[in-house]
Amino acid sequence: MYNCRKLLPDLYWVGANDRRLALFENLFPIPRGVSYNSYLLLDEKAVLLDTVDHAVSRVFLENLEHLLAGRRLDYVIVNHMEPDHCSTLQALLARWPEAKALCTAKAVQMIGQFFGPALAERAQTVAEGDTLCAGRHTLRFITAPMVHWPEVMVTFDEADGVLFSADAFGSFGALDGHLFADELDFAGRFLPDARRYYANIVGKYGAQAASLLNKAAGLPIRMICPLHGPIWRRDLGWLLEKYRRWSQWQPEEPAVLIAYASMYGNTADAAECLAGLLAEAGVKRVAVYDVSGADVSELVGEAFRCSHLVLAAPTYNGGVYPKMEELLAHLKAAGLQKRTVALIENGSWAPAAAKGMRAVLEGMKDTALLESTVSIKSSLAEGQLPALRALAAELAGSLAQ
Ligand code: FEO
Repeated sequence: MYNCRKLLPDLYWVGANDRRLALFENLFPIPRGVSYNSYLLLDEKAVLLDTVDHAVSRVFLENLEHLLAGRRLDYVIVNHMEPDHCSTLQALLARWPEAKALCTAKAVQMIGQFFGPALAERAQTVAEGDTLCAGRHTLRFITAPMVHWPEVMVTFDEADGVLFSADAFGSFGALDGHLFADELDFAGRFLPDARRYYANIVGKYGAQAASLLNKAAGLPIRMICPLHGPIWRRDLGWLLEKYRRWSQWQPEEPAVLIAYASMYGNTADAAECLAGLLAEAGVKRVAVYDVSGADVSELVGEAFRCSHLVLAAPTYNGGVYPKMEELLAHLKAAGLQKRTVALIENGSWAPAAAKGMRAVLEGMKDTALLESTVSIKSSLAEGQLPALRALAAELAGSLAQ
């Protein structure tokens, strides 16, 4: 059954939710599902903005059949060629044979790669600043390479001030009926997933995201329509400020993320003890995670939020415990920088985890490593409590700056 929604007099959401997919990109857990947003503009020309993942193709095509009601589809604008948005492109172009695809030159190449040369011939290249007049609406194309693939562009509807932003400003999480961010508890319900989405999917390309923000700053935007998650028509400044911070790897708030690895609970004890000491030292925001339990994408998201990190890990094979190594590799891949980090290591005969963690962290830009590393031999000794207390005091002092 079709399930499309009117957003503006000429604009419709024709996307769908997937609540069955366990891992987005076969990598990121999405317990709350994900939405694939697609938009249909009905003016003198009928223009579709992006398609959807094949998992939801049935409702998507039913939505289009219903809204088009027999009229031709003139254009499909392909802002992004990742298959979560384009895997139904072939079926769409087969169903509406008059439709032309509009996209960047790189996207034309990718259409050929994914679907073969015949489909690429249905595509027409557009470049930065080109426009499409659909009638009352003029659509302007703005390139946004590496947000999140090289072929990406965004499209701005000059008549209604709508930015079709591709992956930018998107979020994990299916839409529960309400489509607009102002109709739901975005900060409570979506922000952690929006941050996790940005940090893990786009995080590495902060400079490119910042460049898109600069271009967006020159546009009279009244609505932002991303390809995943809620649509924005109010508080755009709040969202843009989040993106500005994330794109520059600036922490969102003074907070301590304690991420520990622990085989038998002893490193965990030290981490929990430090969390208590931080609370006693007056630190308001402390978040503790076991890296073996939490998904690494959640930890990367939290690292984007918090100003301070404490990494606690046992020594393993003369190096860093593998789950902590994995977290460090993901933080590095996401380009994390501008953080203050403290270390706790454990080792029953030759503690070496701190050295290994430090080696990775020293390669992260503008990252300050606190002097006082706490080194545990098997379990935290009572005599080490002053050292842990000193670490808590140093962190509290650093947070207060
Ligand atoms: Fe939602 Fe980069 O695809």
